Amino acid sequence: MKILLVSGSPRKRGNTAKILELVSNKIKDKFDVQICYLADYQVNGCLGCTRCQEVFDKPGCIQKDDAEKLLYRLIDSDIILYGTPLYGHSYSGQLKLFLDRHVALFKFVSGSDKAVNEMEIRSFISGKPVGLIVSCQGPEEQNTELIKAQFDKFCESSLTHCFGKYIFPWCDSNSKQSKYADETLQQIIDDIQHLSVM
Ligand SMILES: Cc1cc2nc3c(=O)[nH]c(=O)nc-3n(C[C@H](O)[C@H](O)[C@H](O)COP(=O)(O)O)c2cc1C
Repeated sequence: MKILLVSGSPRKRGNTAKILELVSNKIKDKFDVQICYLADYQVNGCLGCTRCQEVFDKPGCIQKDDAEKLLYRLIDSDIILYGTPLYGHSYSGQLKLFLDRHVALFKFVSGSDKAVNEMEIRSFISGKPVGLIVSCQGPEEQNTELIKAQFDKFCESSLTHCFGKYIFPWCDSNSKQSKYADETLQQIIDDIQHLSVM
C-alpha cells in the first residue's frame, strides 16, 4: 500500500515536516511511504485557462512546471496525507497553489455552467482516502475552523474520502521547542492501519 505525505510548508525542518517524518517513521516498516516536500518543487498558480478540461484521459495541464508530475504521484498513491502550517487560519500559500492545480485531475463532464455541487465531475483520485495535518502556533479552537471546512469542501469536490483532519496546536515557530501530541500521532497511525485492512 502506497502512502504519500505531502508537506506544504516552506520550511523543510519545521513543525509540519517533523510531524510528517514522525508519521512516516512509525509506519514505514508496514507501508511504502514517501514524503514529498512542495518546497523542493516549482508549482505555479493555476492560470484558470481550462485547457485541462479539453482532455479527459490525463491531467493535461499546459504549464511546464512540476505540478503535473506531482499529480501523477497522487494518482499512483493509495492514501494521501496533506500537511500544512496554518497561515491566516488557512493553508500555506504553497499548498493552496498545489490544491488549485488539482483541477486538472477533475473533469467537468457536464453542467460547467452550474454550481460545483451540481456539476457532473469525474476525478482521477475519486474515492481515495485523504487526510489533513495542520501545525499551528495557537490553539485548535477559534483558529482552525476555516481550514477544516475548506478541506471538507476540497474532499467533496475532488470526490475523495476524508479519513481525518489532525490538528497539532502550540507549535512554536522555533520547531525545536515544539512537542507534538502523542495521542494525535497515534490516531493518525491507527486510522491509516484501519484503512489498510478495509
Ligand atoms: C504567515 C504566517 C501565518 C500564520 N498564521 C497562523 C494562524 O493563523 N494561526 C496560528 O495558530 N498560527 C499561525 N502561524 C504559525 C504557524 O502556523 C506555526 O508556527 C506552524 O507550526 C509553522 O509550521 P512550519 O514549522 O512547518 O513552518 C502563522 C505563521 C506564519 C509564518
